[in-house]
Parts: sequence; C-alpha cells; structure tokens
Amino acid sequence: MSRPDRTRFALPLRLIHWTMALLILAMLFIGVGMVSTVGPAYSVLLQLHRPIGAALFVLVLLRLAIRLSTGAPPLPADLPKVQQIVAKGSHLLLYAAMLAMPLIGWAMLSAGGYPIVLTKDLSLPPILPHDLRYYFALRELHTVIALAFFALILAHLGAALMHGLIRKDGVLWSMTFGAARRASVPAPVEHEGPPGLVE
Ligand code: HEM
Ligand code: HEM
Repeated sequence: MSRPDRTRFALPLRLIHWTMALLILAMLFIGVGMVSTVGPAYSVLLQLHRPIGAALFVLVLLRLAIRLSTGAPPLPADLPKVQQIVAKGSHLLLYAAMLAMPLIGWAMLSAGGYPIVLTKDLSLPPILPHDLRYYFALRELHTVIALAFFALILAHLGAALMHGLIRKDGVLWSMTFGAARRASVPAPVEHEGPPGLVE
C-alpha cells in the first residue's frame, strides 16, 4: 500500500488508533467495574466485555497488517537516541498488550470451561482444554497485564502531550486529523527600513 504523506500515519491507522484507544480505555474500566460488583451490573458488563474484547483482537490484527505495509513516519531527527528507543520499545509493548489481553481472556474462559458467548448467535470455540490450573494462572495474568497496560497507556499519553505541547515537533500531529501542520519555526518577519527602526 503506497502512502503519499510520509509525515503522518496512514489514514486507516489513525482511525484504528483512536477507535482502539477509546475501546481499550472502556475495556479497562468495564473490567474493573466487573470485578467490583456482584450485583446485576456484573452480567451486563461481562456481556459487553467479551464482544468488545473480540472486536479489539480483530482490529489489532488488521492494524498490524496495515502498519507493516504502510510503515510509520520517522521520529524527529533531533529527538535524543534514548527517547527514540524508549518510544519504539513502548509501542512494541502496547502492541503486545493489545494482542495478549483478548487472547488471554479467550484462553482463560476456555480453560475455566465457560462458554465464550459474544452475541446471542455467535460464540467462540475453546482454545484450551478445560483445566482449572490454567484458568487460575491466566486469570491472574489477565489482571497483571491489564495493570501494566494501564500504566503504559498513561506514560504514552504523557509522551504524546510532551510532543504536542512542549516540543511541538509534529509527532502528535502525525496521529491526528485535520489541516496541514504549521511550521514549528515562525517565518522571519519582513521589516521595511533599516534594522533597529522597527517597534
Ligand atoms: C483489550 C482487551 C481486554 C482488556 C483491556 C481487558 C481488561 C480486563 C480487566 C481490567 C479486568 C479486571 C481484572 C481484575 O481487576 O482482576 C478483566 C477481567 C476479565 N476479563 Fe478482560 N479484558 C480484555 C479482553 C477480554 C476478553 C476478550 C475476554 C473474554 C473473551 C475477557 C474476559 C474477562 C473475564 C472473564 C474477566 C474476569 C471477570 C471476573 O473475574 O469476574 N477479557 N478484563
Ligand atoms: C488505549 C490507549 C492507546 C493505545 C493502546 C495506543 C497505542 C499506540 C501505538 C501502538 C502506537 C504506535 C503506532 C505505530 O507505530 O504503529 C501509538 C502511536 C501514537 N499514539 Fe497512541 N495509543 C493510545 C492512546 C493514545 C492517546 C490518548 C494519545 C494522545 C493524547 C496517543 C497519541 C499517539 C501518538 C501521537 C502516536 C504517534 C507516536 C509516534 O510516532 O512515536 N495515543 N499509539
């Protein structure tokens, strides 16, 4: 897939990035809400959690395919090497969490012997044999990775705001929509007359 604008992520990647960001944040809160209640809200939240989790799994596979074929805009050349490595490493970890969370959710329900119902007419087949030892280990892992994911997202948000508000280097712009970016260095002011006479 060719991409004319090398300074921005391809449009489908930007659309998927923001759709997934909203859904993942919703999933983290739905998950915490689920384990904090024994009331009727529990089954409502679980009925949302499973299909949104499955949709996120499909979206991340699609996103990876587009990302691998269209690439990413280069980071600013003046960004220190360490920050470039941290940025790339944290993106890899975000992708790993996006892949792992739905898979672990699916595997843990399989091992627990639960039906993996997405909608009234659609259920997923089990991907692990019924074994409670696997269930408990995966249930624990689902929580640990969710917490790490949350922390990583907060750090990612902080970095994006640092780029957008402090460095103003086009990195935040590369993932957003809207008009062309204004140059970060203002154009020199044209003076009439000799220097020093302008107020
Ligand atoms: C990006 C995807 C996902 C995220 C961010 C996510 C997040 C969470 C969180 C934060 C919790 C609460 C953990 C705790 O505090 O112990 C949770 C619990 C849970 N999740 Fe997920 N989850 C995802 C995908 C899935 C999928 C695909 C399934 C199943 C198909 C699933 C099934 C469950 C179940 C069964 C629980 C435990 C409910 C309970 O113990 O009462 N999750 N999830
Ligand atoms: C659940 C939340 C989020 C997840 C999982 C997530 C994930 C990611 C990933 C994996 C990338 C790397 C893209 C690639 O190279 O293919 C990325 C890039 C980016 N994200 Fe997020 N993101 C989230 C939320 C946000 C938020 C809230 C903001 C800003 C306020 C943001 C701003 C950006 C920007 C500016 C980039 C481009 C960074 C660069 O090229 O180094 N993201 N995001």
